[in-house]
Amino acid sequence: MQAFLKGSSSQSTKPQKIKAAGPSGEKKQRPIPWVEKYRPKCVDEVAFQEEVVAVLKKSLEGADLPNLLFYGPPGTGKTSTILAAARELYGPELFRQRVLELNASDERGIQVVREKVKNFAQLTVAGSRADGKPCPPFKIIILDEADSMTNAAQAALRRTMEKESRTTRFCLICNYVSRIIEPLTSRCSKFRFRPLANDVQEERLLNICEKENIKYTKEAIQALVKVSDGDLRKAITFLQSVARLNGEKEITESAVIEIAGVVPSKLVDGLLQICYKGTFDKMEIAVKSLIDEGYAATQVLNQIHDAIIDASLNDKQKSAITDKMAEVDKCLADGADEYLQLMSLCAVIMQQASQSS
Ligand SMILES: Nc1ncnc2c1ncn2[C@@H]1O[C@H](COP(=O)(O)OP(=O)(O)OP(=O)(O)O)[C@@H](O)[C@H]1O
Ligand SMILES: [Mg+2]
Repeated sequence: MQAFLKGSSSQSTKPQKIKAAGPSGEKKQRPIPWVEKYRPKCVDEVAFQEEVVAVLKKSLEGADLPNLLFYGPPGTGKTSTILAAARELYGPELFRQRVLELNASDERGIQVVREKVKNFAQLTVAGSRADGKPCPPFKIIILDEADSMTNAAQAALRRTMEKESRTTRFCLICNYVSRIIEPLTSRCSKFRFRPLANDVQEERLLNICEKENIKYTKEAIQALVKVSDGDLRKAITFLQSVARLNGEKEITESAVIEIAGVVPSKLVDGLLQICYKGTFDKMEIAVKSLIDEGYAATQVLNQIHDAIIDASLNDKQKSAITDKMAEVDKCLADGADEYLQLMSLCAVIMQQASQSS
């Protein structure tokens, strides 16, 4: 039951958060992370996800809304989109009554689905707002980060979703759609959120720079886009960190690279050259110094990966190396020792490179 209460409090804090990002929040000068401050407040502000925006806009005009499933990589606007749409549909007051948001921080076991979700879904609703404006005669249940729900909890949703379809729409959000059970995906309209295109990200970042009065070089913005891989949240967070660090100074490319924890390509290339031509002892020293510098092994791994794909090795060598990379990646995710993992990868690269094609 405590989980029940926790869930409902998260539901009511969400709209407040959005409010704080609005003009009233700025008046009080409360520091808000820029990702929240510049979170889209209406569906029109959502960039790059035209398909889903079109569907949501139809329902804002009065058409029915299907059950939705949003999936895609982090920081592409999934949560923002549905929150913005819900706010537009219901207005700030009804929002709290009509929208139930549960995310991975709430208890979402089978019990909660059976009680909380079902009870909320069963409430009937009127088709107009207090201010007389029409609003859709249904509620929305947002299950954010649904890929972390257990299969049993997902299964418990199946019947509820069908039975309450007259009064409730579900919006499931996840990063990995393969973790959502088939019967649920088949009940929803699926929308893939694509990583944001570089120019779209650039435009957003420039917009923020302008509003925050930040000086920048063009290369710095390009570097931000590059290091964030289509994840706008990451790009904005980096931008804010660099801006704080730099103070009044102009943001430069090297400052971005530094803060993003990208390993300078000189070091990665150096390490690979040693693997190709050097000795094991030198390799050991190079790996050790990388780790001692504090670079994350996963970052080094990603950069080595890009370099290996472009390297002039033959296909067999590349496939053996990338096979090892997958293993190292898994081990790192499981918490293995960074130094040993990088050493084992470099050893395989060395071994492969020494075999002539
Ligand atoms: N398509 C977009 N249009 C405008 N802003 C975006 C977009 N995508 C991401 N953002 C920015 O990134 C922040 C995070 O977006 P959001 O929380 O919607 O990501 P998400 O897709 O839900 O990610 P996660 O899978 O990690 O939950 C937003 O506050 C917003 O500033
Ligand atoms: Mg989200």
